[in-house]
Formats: sequence, C-alpha cells, structure tokens
Amino acid sequence: TKVKGILEPADKVYTIAHRGASGYAPENTIPAFELAIDMETDYIELDIQLTKDRVPVVIHDETINRTTNGTGYVKNYTLEQLSKLDAGSWFNEQYPMFARDQYAGLRIPTLAEVFEKFGKEVDYMIEIKDPALNPNIETILNEQIEKYNLSDHVSIHSFSESSLRRLHSINPEIPLYQIVWYNIPVYKVPDSFINRVKTYAVGISPNFQRINSSYVAQVKNSGLKVFPYTVNYQVNMDKAVVWGVDGVHTNFPDRFKEVIKNN
Ligand code: G3P
Ligand code: CA
Repeated sequence: TKVKGILEPADKVYTIAHRGASGYAPENTIPAFELAIDMETDYIELDIQLTKDRVPVVIHDETINRTTNGTGYVKNYTLEQLSKLDAGSWFNEQYPMFARDQYAGLRIPTLAEVFEKFGKEVDYMIEIKDPALNPNIETILNEQIEKYNLSDHVSIHSFSESSLRRLHSINPEIPLYQIVWYNIPVYKVPDSFINRVKTYAVGISPNFQRINSSYVAQVKNSGLKVFPYTVNYQVNMDKAVVWGVDGVHTNFPDRFKEVIKNN
C-alpha cells in the first residue's frame, strides 16, 4: 500500500545519474554515462574543469590524483597530456565486484566528446567546479552548449553562487540549481535565502542527510525545485519520494527508477 507523505509525490520525479552510473562504472567516463542512459536516467550529472589550454574536461576533483594514474592539478596539464592518462583502472582496483577489463585505460572525456556522443538523447546536469581555479569557465561552457545546440537539454548547478550568477547574466535561459551542503540538520530555510536563490536559479540541491519533509515542502512551496544528493540506498530513495522531491542525484539510477515505479 502507498505510504502517505506530508506532500503528494511530485508529478514527475527526475533521476539524475551522479557522475553517470558511478556506482557501477568509473565516474565521469563515457561508459558511466552510457550505462546511466541504458538505465533510462533523465539526466547525467557531470563535473567540469579546464585544462591548461582551457578545454573543459569531465572530472570531479581539481587534481587527477584520485581518478587517474597521474598526479597534479588538471589546470597544469594540456588536453593532449591528460588524454594519455588512465581514468578507469582505479575503479577496477577499488570496486572489484564491478570491475571490467574495458574500464582499464579509459580516458578523461572532454565535454565536447560527451555532447557529440549523446547529443539530445539525454539531459545534462553540469557542475561548475572551483570557479576560482577555472577562470571564465561560464563563458566557455555556454559557448559549448550553443555550439552543440543543446540549450534545451542542459541544466547547470554549482556550490558557487557567484558562478551561477555569472552564468545567469551570460545566458538567462539555462536552468540553474544552487547546491548547498549542510553539516547540521536544516528543517527550515531562511526566506531571505530562498528569495535570493530565486533571482538566478530554479532550484536547490541540498545534501539529503540533513533535510526532512518540512524542508522539501518549504522549498517546493516557494516555487523552487528540490533535488537532494546523493541518495544511494532504497530506504532513503523511498523517503525522498514520499517527501515529494522533484528528483534525486544517485550513483545507482536503476535503483531509483525502480523506486519511482513502485511508489
Ligand atoms: O549531486 C550533487 C553533487 O554533484 C555535488 O557534490 O562533490 O558529488 O560534485 P559532488
Ligand atoms: Ca557534481
């Protein structure tokens, strides 16, 4: 039987594959995105950083240390240098139960490659990382979105309000989401914060662990969307849906699709 929440579930609950289907494949790589699309995700979430020659590449950290066989800052390497790195073997070593031979030797994708490969097949939730380390990334990103004619398929999110504001002034049509991270429970958001976010964004993405149904109700009633992250376990997915979230960021898009189906 259906559990009644404080709010009715949202009309459409979106699945956002966090760094691709990163529970099953190396994060932010083409196979992780392919797998998420096979699982019928609505969005693939990906993080971008600029190379030394100012090409947006898809990688979460500001350094290549964790997810490749190299070391150092992304911004100190040219695209050609980065393209020699192995961005998949770390996953095989860390997650032997999901390891696959084809992950060894994967490359860090450029944003352009991702756009070329998947086009309008999926929607993109692109995160602007470390705007201070990636000057002018907003303009470069907007140029790529326009070049590939993907304005209707891209949303952008960031922890950086100033970066989102810059984007909003460059291209007010792109839906923007303010990411927030709470280290204590937050069940009520100051109205002043909601009103400020509404001047440039269409939604808020909070860490799931510190919010509750009142938080979700308040943000939704204000007219903003709410996309908690990163929701990986079924019990939390069920909760999020009952609270009426508009979607979740998850490393396991197949699990969340199943939860939506059963709610
Ligand atoms: O899904 C929200 C998330 O992308 C923000 O955190 O560190 O995974 O990029 P992070
Ligand atoms: Ca991210």
